[in-house]
Amino acid sequence: MTESARLLQPELGRVTTWGEYRARGGGEAYRVAAETDPAFVIDALRAAGLRGRGGAGFPTATKWRGIFTSRSSRRFICCNGAEGEPGTFKDRWILRHNPFQVLEGLAIGALVLSAERAYLGLKASFDVEAAATNVALAEMQRHLPAAKKIELVLGPDEYLFGEEKALLEVIEGGLPLPRVFPPYIHGLFTGAYGGPNQPDSNPVAVNNVETLAHVSHILRNGPDWFRQLGTEESPGTMVFTLSGDIRRPCIVELPLGLTLRTLIEQHAGGIASGRPVKAVFPGAANRVITPDLLDVPLGFDSMAQAGSSLGSGGFIVYDDRTCMVDVAHTFSRFLYVESCNQCPPCKLGSREITGRLEALLQGRAEDDTVEEIEDIATWVTNARRCYLAVSEQLVISSIVAAYPDDFVAHLEGRCTLEHDRPLPKMVDYVEGEGFRFDTNYQSKQPDWTYASERDQ
Ligand SMILES: Cc1cc2nc3c(=O)[nH]c(=O)nc-3n(C[C@H](O)[C@H](O)[C@H](O)COP(=O)(O)O)c2cc1C
Ligand code: SF4
Repeated sequence: MTESARLLQPELGRVTTWGEYRARGGGEAYRVAAETDPAFVIDALRAAGLRGRGGAGFPTATKWRGIFTSRSSRRFICCNGAEGEPGTFKDRWILRHNPFQVLEGLAIGALVLSAERAYLGLKASFDVEAAATNVALAEMQRHLPAAKKIELVLGPDEYLFGEEKALLEVIEGGLPLPRVFPPYIHGLFTGAYGGPNQPDSNPVAVNNVETLAHVSHILRNGPDWFRQLGTEESPGTMVFTLSGDIRRPCIVELPLGLTLRTLIEQHAGGIASGRPVKAVFPGAANRVITPDLLDVPLGFDSMAQAGSSLGSGGFIVYDDRTCMVDVAHTFSRFLYVESCNQCPPCKLGSREITGRLEALLQGRAEDDTVEEIEDIATWVTNARRCYLAVSEQLVISSIVAAYPDDFVAHLEGRCTLEHDRPLPKMVDYVEGEGFRFDTNYQSKQPDWTYASERDQ
């Protein structure tokens, strides 16, 4: 990768002051945005082909254009820094290294969209990132007028806080319970559901931390610079998080289009045990990536065509000693616990699947338990408000389909594989040492209390 195309430049050290940021070209992107018109900025993002790094890969220019052309006089922009996807730590890493580039992207968004306010949502538990961001924001507000509109919102630890419709609820002072309509239809501080493109919809552009960091670099260096790396459908770089049965758990920024095999072998030191890869999960939200897909170029469309997803670039790798019934149970329990129960099929279905996986693990399953799991997975998404229910369906049905032998071994009480892989819900990362996981998570209950709290 060429030096100029790097986003984070961690080898240059952390950026902690406005002066350091300016010395690296910081503030130039904002100047471009302030001196041109909004359409120019949106066109530049379109020409660059920037796609959201929060999981769905939605084109950023299309999102911004939708808000820009809205009939609503009140518009908002929100940076999503809730980062709760298992196996992902890149947003926190970016904020730790250089919060200025994220805030500059957010300030540009506020300027371009004529936003009334701009928000940056972080979990209250992200104290290192919140402190770094607060320092950067105070400095930035002295230099970039639109940065004065930015407000930091500290939210709860729940996974759903990162879901964009729930994020808006938290900004309004509520719980992280997803609304029915998306942020461009039901925006912030509207008494009613405005409806598509209605004057009172108060639409919000919700963008991931990494997406907004890219905005700053694209405007400063131009769309062609961004397109030098990556692929036609997924230009630029992505910040990948690699964890699991690998030799060197890491966070690394690389051009899109490389393969998972390259990521694992060249950047994560290969499989720690020296054994073959059995499964890779792009977080807990998408279908399992089986070993035959390790050579698919990593891009939003290429991974979707291969039957999985790039997600937010966090890959959890398992070697062939791993029991996939156990992994399915770990992910299913996570999604069941985090489900908010607004849509009964989601909470009930994920509970029933988790219970049956538990029965399999404990040798209590019936002959038709696996068929029941497959059946429940077909209706868990009914009447869903958000993608969490879809995640349960995709993760579980793909594991059942790809690893039937593991399920049969449990039904027959003869599984000799390993069952000790932790849920990679990351709470810290130290370069060279790796990740620290949330060891308290297993005591979190489906009503979002912790067993330890209940005992008190
Ligand atoms: C359960 C759930 C959790 C999510 N968590 C996050 C998150 O922590 N950070 C994030 O950027 N997007 C998260 N998303 C995706 C957001 O809803 C949204 O698509 C994203 O912030 C849009 O930003 P982008 O267009 O820049 O990718 C989550 C989605 C779901 C369904
Ligand atoms: S789909 Fe599940 S997590 Fe999403 S709003 Fe409904 S119950 Fe809550």
